[in-house]
Amino acid sequence: MDEGRIEITTEDGAGYRFEVADDGRLHQTGFGIRPSWGDGLPLSVFPLALPTWGEGLTRAPALRVTHHGGDPLTRLTFAGHERSVHRGGLAHTVRLRDEARGLEVSLGFRTWDGDGVIEQWTEVHNGEGGPITVYELAAAAPAWWGIDAWLTHHGGGWAEEWQTHEERLIPGTKLLQSWGGVRPHLQVNPFFLLSFGDPSTELAGEVLAGALAWGGNVRMAFELGNPMGQLRALCGWNPVGSEVVVEAGDTLRSPTMVWAWSASGRAQTSHRLHRWICANSVRDGDRPRPVVMNNWEATFFGFDQQKLVSMMDDAADLGAELFLLDDGWFGDRHPRDNDDAGLGDWMVDRRKLPGGIGALAAAAEERGIRFGLWVEPEMVNPRSELYEAHPDWVVHQPGRDRREERQQLVLDLCRPEVREFVVDTIGGLLDAHPGISYLKWDANRDVSEPGSPALPADRQSGYWVELARATQEVMSEVATRWPDVELMLCASGGGRVDLQSLRWFHEVWTSDNTDPVDRVLMQWAASHFLPARVLGAHVTRWGERPVEFGCAVAMSARFGFDLDTAGLSDQERQVCRAAVEVYLAHRDLVQDGDLHRLVSPWRVGAVTSKDGEAARTGSAALSYSSPDRRRSIVFAYQLDEPGGATPAAVPLRGLDPELTYEVRRVEPGGPDEVATATGADLMDRGLDWPLTAPVTAAIWSVTVTA
Ligand code: DGJ
Repeated sequence: MDEGRIEITTEDGAGYRFEVADDGRLHQTGFGIRPSWGDGLPLSVFPLALPTWGEGLTRAPALRVTHHGGDPLTRLTFAGHERSVHRGGLAHTVRLRDEARGLEVSLGFRTWDGDGVIEQWTEVHNGEGGPITVYELAAAAPAWWGIDAWLTHHGGGWAEEWQTHEERLIPGTKLLQSWGGVRPHLQVNPFFLLSFGDPSTELAGEVLAGALAWGGNVRMAFELGNPMGQLRALCGWNPVGSEVVVEAGDTLRSPTMVWAWSASGRAQTSHRLHRWICANSVRDGDRPRPVVMNNWEATFFGFDQQKLVSMMDDAADLGAELFLLDDGWFGDRHPRDNDDAGLGDWMVDRRKLPGGIGALAAAAEERGIRFGLWVEPEMVNPRSELYEAHPDWVVHQPGRDRREERQQLVLDLCRPEVREFVVDTIGGLLDAHPGISYLKWDANRDVSEPGSPALPADRQSGYWVELARATQEVMSEVATRWPDVELMLCASGGGRVDLQSLRWFHEVWTSDNTDPVDRVLMQWAASHFLPARVLGAHVTRWGERPVEFGCAVAMSARFGFDLDTAGLSDQERQVCRAAVEVYLAHRDLVQDGDLHRLVSPWRVGAVTSKDGEAARTGSAALSYSSPDRRRSIVFAYQLDEPGGATPAAVPLRGLDPELTYEVRRVEPGGPDEVATATGADLMDRGLDWPLTAPVTAAIWSVTVTA
């Protein structure tokens, strides 16, 4: 290593290069697969590692601080670089210092060699004589030069999560920003791809995947402009409303940004993230996720004990492993018959459920399945005993209206007594009913009056950070105190899908939109970042598609049902049973195998979005293969485009060219077809595309012959 040069790369050489200039400033001289922008140029032309307010302000700063005493400027010089070993690779701390004021800043990194992943964050340590205010604190501020970049990002809103947008970055700032504090990822989810040169494809192109591990509002800004066509990304919490006062001696840490590079297209960034997330990020990443039967779409609030028990009978008959009782089971004086009452009153509604939760959990156990329960612990309806007793427990400002959304208000988790109430409520349920082994943790509105009378005046402007931290504290406490209970993270669907929250949760509810045609596109998008085992996918009547198609789509992720089982025809029941059987026989592949996106539902390089239907190909196929390449399961979908072109064949991936495989059609209701082919054949020529009609699916099981 040259003196003054710092390289932070994974073992395959991808990552950052920084260099210290003669004046002590730290410049970024590369971030990429081979991070080098050419030697010999004066370092002053290279972007700063962390641009601050007070340095060359023709670009947005990554750090803006008002120092104790009022100085608004920060100039950082290099103060040291320490390395240590952690279980995945090296941990680096690059220390910077504002000599004039004594502010210390460190850039933290962890490389994960085997997985090709880098984590990055920023810390500000207040070494000054009194409080400072941090207005901007990016987790990462990587920069690039003179190269076309294509941004792929996702979001949309309720039932529109994971809409894919891909665009070439042009001069100016592309700003992805989310708000509301509770369901921010409905608007913009905290994952993106940057492709360099041309839009990347599955197997070609230089591409960077980024994931911001932050459960609150996010901001990812991509600023392309001078000097010299420089592109700068600022990734972190949304700074608006995140202006944090840091007391003397305290440290403020940004969220963590997770990066994965690939020189050979998106398949590799996905593999890297999936492997790393399962091993290091999501809760119990190696535990198989159950096949779930949920009652929400089947009953909404209109159920009773008898109805639920008969659904459990059907769940067991179909082979599901867990029955999940959704919203509507609670409320005493304000029963939850609708969404306008009862939230906060977590006592069972004995009118609907005379035997209580205990009887339901026992009924599930008698049928050999597990029992799960829905909660929305951060919320309260004004029509509730909780609100009557504690009207001051909600997020509000005295003397101002409290705006309701879905007839509910948000509990102010910044108050310690509210956090305690939430943990005790959940804990009370779990302790009283050991039969509950799964919780769906929902949150169905945003904060509209950010601020808390419980916080001092100088902490109001940092409310989004306070709230996000308080929420994580509650989540972590529940996860830690009840380690055996599985948790699904839901916020009106996929309103919370970040890697910070997934430390405490086993999966996310991908979207309330379960129309399988839309789900092919959503799951396709999500699969670029999140492994299939964390993406809840249920068969419902949404979209009125054939049940066999719904099954085939849901089976490619964490499979389950949300169906009125009493309304299933015999044929549909048969299909569901067969689907569970096939899923369970291949669960290890879907939930643990290597994902291969084989036929894209999007045309390459098109601006893809729900409105851009012209950008859709009409077909999609993906597979999961075992790491030893001896088994695979392949899913093919013909979507609803009338007259949409169909591919001639699906060339497979993840097999051994030298081996011979048995290829068997296994989709419920599909033809009884078995063939034999070599891995080379299956990967070169592929499987003939068997689908012609819209909304049909094929599934193949591919296994090495003995
Ligand atoms: C929103 C969730 O996304 C749904 O799945 C369901 O749980 C409802 N909330 C219940 O109110």
